[in-house]
Amino acid sequence: MKNPYLPYPVRIDEVVTETEDKNLKTFKLVFMDPEAEKDFSYIPGQFAELSVAGKGEISIGIASSPTEKGFLKFTVNKVGLVTTHLHNMVEGEIMGIRGPLGNTYPWEDMEGKNVVIIGGGFAFTTLRSSIIYMLHPDNRPKFKDIIVVYGARSPGMLLYKEELAEWEQRDDLQMHITVDATDDPDWKYNVGFVPAITEQKITNAENAIAIVCGPPVMIRFTQPVLEKLGFPPERIILSLEMRMKCGIGICGRCNIGDKYVCKDGPVFSLAQLKNLPPEY
Ligand SMILES: Cc1cc2nc3c(=O)[nH]c(=O)nc-3n(C[C@H](O)[C@H](O)[C@H](O)COP(=O)(O)OP(=O)(O)OC[C@H]3O[C@@H](n4cnc5c(N)ncnc54)[C@H](O)[C@@H]3O)c2cc1C
Ligand code: FES
Repeated sequence: MKNPYLPYPVRIDEVVTETEDKNLKTFKLVFMDPEAEKDFSYIPGQFAELSVAGKGEISIGIASSPTEKGFLKFTVNKVGLVTTHLHNMVEGEIMGIRGPLGNTYPWEDMEGKNVVIIGGGFAFTTLRSSIIYMLHPDNRPKFKDIIVVYGARSPGMLLYKEELAEWEQRDDLQMHITVDATDDPDWKYNVGFVPAITEQKITNAENAIAIVCGPPVMIRFTQPVLEKLGFPPERIILSLEMRMKCGIGICGRCNIGDKYVCKDGPVFSLAQLKNLPPEY
């Protein structure tokens, strides 16, 4: 049986600095062994443990979509020890990856529904994975309207700017990009916090499911907006970012009540969370 703590070696193929503060970088990783790539079969919403030799492991949401072949993408915010070491690594260097881990967004429940995607800041990563996945020609017919609200502090802090511009042009996706504030006279999108823009742009909760991923403050204020719009708690889906260690339900680091965020989550419906202690 494979040791679940043993990472697969991967090569850094490309590093893209996403934001003007240079604290967010997207790493494109390529498996050294094609068999490992086959074993690493994932679905949007899942995460992985990235390891930097001698420094440690970090839990990071998978930002690429399984419909993008030959590589994985992760967008990493530089906050501490391991993320700083990873930010100093360059193309061609080798690191490790363990996964895929955790559950996924509820793809079967989303079929035949309008899908509202709400993201804030760097937590947009697994939402990027989901959007690319849903827009793939094999998958797009499975979903009705796809409506995205994505916000960042300022225009320079938005992730995946080229893709956002492409999605803006599509007629099978409604994009509502927003920033908290800007003095850029050429800014042509929304200005306002994500919950306020959600309230303005999302008018109908009928046959709709909302997927929300963002900083705790954004989630706290978006949740009542969605409930007011008529989304029942079982159709509000949230992805949590508790501190983790093993990522596989063994160490007991990430529990909320009797649930392990790494194994039973990180994706939960609001209905599930309402039955758990408010520790997230
Ligand atoms: C399921 C999941 C998905 C995630 N996806 C992403 C992602 O896509 N991109 C990304 O940049 N980060 C993501 N994170 C957060 C990431 O795991 C942490 O930022 C990272 O582990 C920090 O490692 P470090 O060694 O650099 O920081 P440390 O030196 O360990 O800590 C630096 C600071 O960050 C705080 N911190 C560390 N981990 C967390 C955490 N999980 N939640 C809140 N605060 C934390 C510490 O308390 C400390 O203040 C995710 C976390 C989880 C659990
Ligand atoms: S991180 Fe070890 S049990 Fe969840």
